[in-house]
Amino acid sequence: MSVIERTISINFRHRIHFTRNVFTLGNTVLKDVLSGEKGQPPKVLVVLDESLHLAQPSLAPQIETWFKNNAAAAKLVCPPFILEGGERVKNSYFHVSEIQSQIDRYHIDRHSYVIAVGGGALLDLVGLAAATAHRGVRHVRIPTTTLSQDDSGVGVKNGMNAFGKKNFIGTFAVPWAVVNDFELLASLSPRDKRAGYIEAVKVACIRDAVFFEVIERDAAKLREFDPEAMEKLIHRCAELHVNHIATSGDPFEMGSARPLDFGHWAAHKLEQISEYRIRHGEAVAVGIALDVIYSRRMGFLDGPSTERVLKLIEDLGFEIFANELLHVDSEGALMVLKGLEEFREHLGGRLTITLLNAIGRGFEVHEMHTSPLVAAIHELEERSQRRMQARVVSMFHR
Ligand SMILES: NC(=O)c1ccc[n+]([C@@H]2O[C@H](COP(=O)([O-])OP(=O)(O)OC[C@H]3O[C@@H](n4cnc5c(N)ncnc54)[C@H](O)[C@@H]3O)[C@@H](O)[C@H]2O)c1
Ligand SMILES: [Zn+2]
Repeated sequence: MSVIERTISINFRHRIHFTRNVFTLGNTVLKDVLSGEKGQPPKVLVVLDESLHLAQPSLAPQIETWFKNNAAAAKLVCPPFILEGGERVKNSYFHVSEIQSQIDRYHIDRHSYVIAVGGGALLDLVGLAAATAHRGVRHVRIPTTTLSQDDSGVGVKNGMNAFGKKNFIGTFAVPWAVVNDFELLASLSPRDKRAGYIEAVKVACIRDAVFFEVIERDAAKLREFDPEAMEKLIHRCAELHVNHIATSGDPFEMGSARPLDFGHWAAHKLEQISEYRIRHGEAVAVGIALDVIYSRRMGFLDGPSTERVLKLIEDLGFEIFANELLHVDSEGALMVLKGLEEFREHLGGRLTITLLNAIGRGFEVHEMHTSPLVAAIHELEERSQRRMQARVVSMFHR
């Protein structure tokens, strides 16, 4: 008997560029990012989110013009490939093979690039196609929602949904580069502008009390989608996210803990129960509210801190309750609670849930008790009913 054992060390560079109007002629960010062999411009396939394309019809021609004017730096193999965005696109493998067939058709190899321009769902899907074609071609992400710019797009995961589970199929793959262009957010619906705020609240809750205070101070401006406040939030949130990936010692989540998924065990299940009527960010708002109240009920978090988190989530314009929290299965059990086991199984190992013992300080537990969880769900329901009544009363008094 013998064994050959070696350690394989690989270093990745993970870079997030912040810019404005990435496809205007004077902008050189992409030129710097797309490096090729000497004298030979690399091939580039661009995949563009359909809703973004409809909202900003000048973008696709602008992309083509940019490549024409930078022909020495990179070669666009075809007009931007328009693909439906939003969660639905992640539910069918057909779309992955659709992108892979473009990769094949235009001979995109490991020295060529697939650039995805769109929301988190489209980036997840294109990232999966790029990571698996030829075992991985270079992939540049240009996120175009608040959430993808401050969270999902700056991470190292891709995926699609399968067997009724979020992100069941996917890989860890560090993108070649990420380019955050704030101007691209202008055409987002208020709902999608807001959704990304919650990832900032999340990371502030578990890591950065000062950032939490900044969000509190900016809440009124953020609610009105003040560009300066939004940009500040996105930048710091992305930075905390990338810091975690680079320094936590577990960028590919080999252990059992996922601290950045605070509030997500319930969120992923709510998205699925609602058949994706509830957006990821909206589901996370409810999931965080639930785990914060649970933290208080278990004696981990004090009342005033709990109230601060709930109030901030509400002040930013989120609902803290969704009817899906009360959905039961054929045996009368609350469906959302199944999210705990699914969350555990996604990583394997021991159930590990992040809770709060102070604002800015997350910690891990390995057990979640049903009765305080159910009580927390009812507390959220009552609080949201009281808010609704207060809204109705204030409408009558206007
Ligand atoms: N990979 C990860 O680490 C990770 C982390 C968190 C979330 N996610 C995933 O991200 C997805 C959510 O992403 P999202 O919040 O960006 O939503 P989304 O991708 O569903 O986009 C929301 C909607 O906005 C449209 N859109 C995108 N950009 C636009 C623009 N600039 N103007 C107008 N419309 C635009 C999209 O077509 C879509 O209809 C979920 O699938 C979630 O699971 C992934
Ligand atoms: Zn999230």
